[in-house]
Amino acid sequence: MCGIVGYVGPKPAVPFLISGLSRLEYRGYDSAGVAVLGPHGLRVVRRRGKLATLAAALKSEPPEGSIGIGHTRWATHGRPSEENAHPHTAGGVTVVHNGIIENHVRLRKELEAIGRKFSSETDTEIFAHLIDQALLDGAQTLMVAVQRSLKRVEGTYALVVLCDRMPDQIVVAKNASPMVIGVGKGEMFIASDVPALLDQTREVIYLEDGEVAEVRADRVMLADHGGRSITRAPRTITWNAAQAEKDGYPHFMLKEIFEQPRAVADTLRGRLLPDEGDAVLEGFSVDVPSIKRVVLLACGTSHYASLVGKFFIEAMSRIPCEVDLASEFRYRDPVVGPGDLTIAISQSGETADTLAAVKEAKSRGATVLSICNVVDASIPRLSDGTLYTHAGPEIGVASTKCFTAQLAALSLVALHLGRRRGTLSADAGRQYASDLAALPEKMTHCLATLAPGAESRAPFPVLAARYKTVRDFLFLGRGANYPIALEGALKLKEISYIHAEGYAAGEMKHGPIALIDDGVPVVVIAPLGPGYEKVLSNLAEVRARNGHVLAVATDSDVDIARQAEDVLRIPAVAPLLQPFLTVLPLQLLAYAVAVGKGNDVDQPRNLAKSVTVE
Ligand code: AGP
Repeated sequence: MCGIVGYVGPKPAVPFLISGLSRLEYRGYDSAGVAVLGPHGLRVVRRRGKLATLAAALKSEPPEGSIGIGHTRWATHGRPSEENAHPHTAGGVTVVHNGIIENHVRLRKELEAIGRKFSSETDTEIFAHLIDQALLDGAQTLMVAVQRSLKRVEGTYALVVLCDRMPDQIVVAKNASPMVIGVGKGEMFIASDVPALLDQTREVIYLEDGEVAEVRADRVMLADHGGRSITRAPRTITWNAAQAEKDGYPHFMLKEIFEQPRAVADTLRGRLLPDEGDAVLEGFSVDVPSIKRVVLLACGTSHYASLVGKFFIEAMSRIPCEVDLASEFRYRDPVVGPGDLTIAISQSGETADTLAAVKEAKSRGATVLSICNVVDASIPRLSDGTLYTHAGPEIGVASTKCFTAQLAALSLVALHLGRRRGTLSADAGRQYASDLAALPEKMTHCLATLAPGAESRAPFPVLAARYKTVRDFLFLGRGANYPIALEGALKLKEISYIHAEGYAAGEMKHGPIALIDDGVPVVVIAPLGPGYEKVLSNLAEVRARNGHVLAVATDSDVDIARQAEDVLRIPAVAPLLQPFLTVLPLQLLAYAVAVGKGNDVDQPRNLAKSVTVE
């Protein structure tokens, strides 16, 4: 999830490129760059690190020109560096891109085979070579060259293209990643998101998937995915820039909750092979049959993801999994070594406890795979391989979209190991893969029915009003939903400051049931599937002690409404994948109660987004 901008008009381009990027820095901030076409030709300036570094470099020697493009990066392919920073150039063509080219390995080979030389590790540079080649092969216009190149690309993109042979136009293209054009008076502003251009204009043209546009200072020529010319009137935006950064959501946390279907889809993209019933883990290879044990290491929410991961990996590969709290691991003189695959999970990649645990595991000869959301962070740099979650930057301290993206990454690891251990047949693999591929749509549907608004069947405002004064909460779950009970309790604790505990439902009668009275709400995760009857009997134990039950249940389960005060519904899904859905209402419950208490949900007290001290 990067930020991209473009400008064509009478004014110098650099001021808008920098102000626009500064409004998009929440989308990515590991490197940035601009390209400007002026009387002295094309000038490209790129810097590693925050936008301020680039702005300082441009201040001293601003490139001349009134047409330019810019980018602030959130790395997915290629570590954060000046060489991998955008824009990328080939011949006279320069591009910036937000998205993922799935077939980048094949396209790079094809281009190298015709003598093309690459100067970066990115997938994006492929666009520059394809378009430049298309022009050399006779494409009459830049737009045609872009359209021809896109036919060879599989993946997502918001793409902005500049060519030194056509200095009066910029060509843009969109597929799945956002792209808008701001219409000014005799000038045009291009951006991946509205916040970037709200200081300049409120007249905005939204591009749809598959569309390409040729943008000149005084007009926009739009074509649909079939190449047919179309017209679209600009829409007037009423939001202010701060609102727009949150996409109109009141908090980053709520925005990130609703970004989960895309985060899961992007993390599966290009790795899940539904036809083969398999998964590829680019950048990581291990002799799977030699793995004796898997050890999962993490902290906080990532630890709960690893507890769910144990279910995925053992079910698919029958390799025994051990889950350890990273903060405890190295002080326990752990029995770990060669033959052990250690999987370290960390959103930030900088958590000191997890970093220390990785060092410990490596020093004892274990192989380390990390699952991380920040390219080239400390933990990935130390690991033998990394599977990056593609959730984009997570701003809210309470982790949400990175949690479900971590589950997606763990499900890919399970599939990869299971197929190579022979414990998972191709047919079973295909079934699991198609269930995974169906998740983003189910999550979108689930969130739509839970969200405040017309379709909502979820009483969150009522629940928030009812629960914001309680002192204690209990969360109960069984199987892969037990870690979800732990995660639900953590979300509530983190942002509402209400004491909450997650428990394995079967454990309740061994102690915590003593806490139950009519002042303690109990969230029972009870979707239809294995263990449902057992959970119902735990629910009855709570009711028998006047406990107040809030159930998370499957859409089609009519009976449960008679056994719970409140019911939050999720669509039916393969039992093993229920955690992707059962966590959603719990995130929203915590959010609603915290907002009801007037808390700062994005920056809760006493917490940091990345805990870099032990
Ligand atoms: C979760 O909402 C918290 N921010 C916290 O528990 C977090 O999961 C933990 O600090 C681990 O962070 P990491 O994933 O960046 O390593």
